[in-house]
Amino acid sequence: MSDKWTAQKIKQFKGKGRLAALTAHDFSLARLVDAAGVPIILVGDSLGMYAQGNDNTLPVTMDQMVYHTTIVARGVKNALVIADMPFLSYQASDNEAMRNAGRFLKEAHADGVKVEGGSLRAPLIRRMVENGIPVMGHIGLTPQSIHAFGGYKIQGRTHPEAQRLLEDAKALDEAGVFSLVLECVPAALGAEITAAVSIPTLGIGGGPACDGQILVTHDILGLLGDFKPRFVKRYADLGEQVVKTLKQYREEVEQGAFPDAEHSY
Ligand code: KIV
Repeated sequence: MSDKWTAQKIKQFKGKGRLAALTAHDFSLARLVDAAGVPIILVGDSLGMYAQGNDNTLPVTMDQMVYHTTIVARGVKNALVIADMPFLSYQASDNEAMRNAGRFLKEAHADGVKVEGGSLRAPLIRRMVENGIPVMGHIGLTPQSIHAFGGYKIQGRTHPEAQRLLEDAKALDEAGVFSLVLECVPAALGAEITAAVSIPTLGIGGGPACDGQILVTHDILGLLGDFKPRFVKRYADLGEQVVKTLKQYREEVEQGAFPDAEHSY
């Protein structure tokens, strides 16, 4: 049997164990994440911040996402590669959304797409799924709605808000998503949604009861400065190590210690 993860396998994993998911925005990081046996690699539109240096995800375009997804997919053997649909690639019309989602599968070799939003997106997601495009849902703090939320704030804190998110999760499950990202919601709500849906939930600040977790790889490796929201656990400080290593290289060049005989022809 193939070791390749499919959307179907992820969906059927509900109740069987926990799933780790991470982002990758380029070939070399994708290879490393895949080599670590992580089942889901998201080409997140977070690349707008991590690869492009923007303040948020809104400026990311379809062409940029197709390019990044292509180079990630090239580095992956076993993980499921999911492409994030960027801001305004699916909101203007369902037909445009279908064509854009299709590009990720046709041109970029993604295995599926991620769409932000709840019940409002359910009819579109149903159409994508019925047409052979696996979809990962994403509710809670959906970063493309940052201006509507008035900042990066925990969602679902009040009873009506929590009820709405629960209804959103059920609507997306019903529409056919194979998994659902729960971003920045209280742990109790993460648990309630996880118990209410038939698909694996992936928490990012969604609490320990979620069926799995998803984080930005740069955050857990400490590759991007001091950005460390509460839901991130920093497993390494590679950023510091990289600067230290590059400094050593610079000093050796400046001092004439590199290249030595071993590194010369
Ligand atoms: O863009 C992103 O990286 C995401 C997260 C869920 C990690 O959407």
